[in-house]
Amino acid sequence: MKELTSSPAELNEPLAGVEHIAIIMDGNGRWAKKRLMPRNVGHKKGAENLRKLIKDADSLGLKYLSVYAFSTENWKRDKEEVESIMGLFRKYLTEYFTGNENKNIRVKLIGNLEALPKDIFQKGKEVEKETANYTGLTLIIAINYGGRDEIVRAAKKMLINLQKTNTLIENITEAAFEKYLDTYTIPHPEIVIRTSGELRISNFLLWQAAYSEFYFTNTLWPDFTIEDIKKAIEEYSSRERRFGK
Ligand code: FPP
Repeated sequence: MKELTSSPAELNEPLAGVEHIAIIMDGNGRWAKKRLMPRNVGHKKGAENLRKLIKDADSLGLKYLSVYAFSTENWKRDKEEVESIMGLFRKYLTEYFTGNENKNIRVKLIGNLEALPKDIFQKGKEVEKETANYTGLTLIIAINYGGRDEIVRAAKKMLINLQKTNTLIENITEAAFEKYLDTYTIPHPEIVIRTSGELRISNFLLWQAAYSEFYFTNTLWPDFTIEDIKKAIEEYSSRERRFGK
């Protein structure tokens, strides 16, 4: 057996201490438009790209990858487009994030999931259960997700609990509130990436990204690869994080 000569810190070096990367997957529509194809082809390509990227990110040793797949605002898009994205969720939850294809990646869904079509909600719960003990990358898929909505849902849950337990208002701290967020137990992302040249957060992980480093690239989501992730990590490692100090 090959002897392990590097220390754990050295082994971790390609990641520069990064455990969690969050991505706003933007540009599917423009990717399709450039090729004179309908938007749903761009989303299909975007989903295929995610399927490949999660394997590459897992091989790289990344612990958490969050992806913004559908926002609370995306329902305002054409019915046809919304349906085609929902169709992709169905297909991927059934065929690719579980079963034969996936034996290592833990899947977690965040967002207002109860408002999703019932079958997607149920499939999501099944996939979470089936992959709960997998030890590789944790893929966090934000569906019907909005950062403000998450905070309001958390506040409601906290209030119900405070009333039940007669807890004093002084006990409302950031750490106590955090327990009611969808992402409780998941470390905050060190890096948030947005593809396609847009420079906005668009209601993604508002609480969790408070001190994240942002990385923007003009690459459209269907063309984004693990090499872009490595570039983002490289840039991150050259930045100084001060957390307000
Ligand atoms: C943003 O690009 C993309 C979305 C709103 C949908 C993201 C969905 C996927 C990548 C596919 C499904 C994912 C899973 C988990 C199977 P856009 O349409 O806003 O692009 P544009 O700004 O160029 O129009």
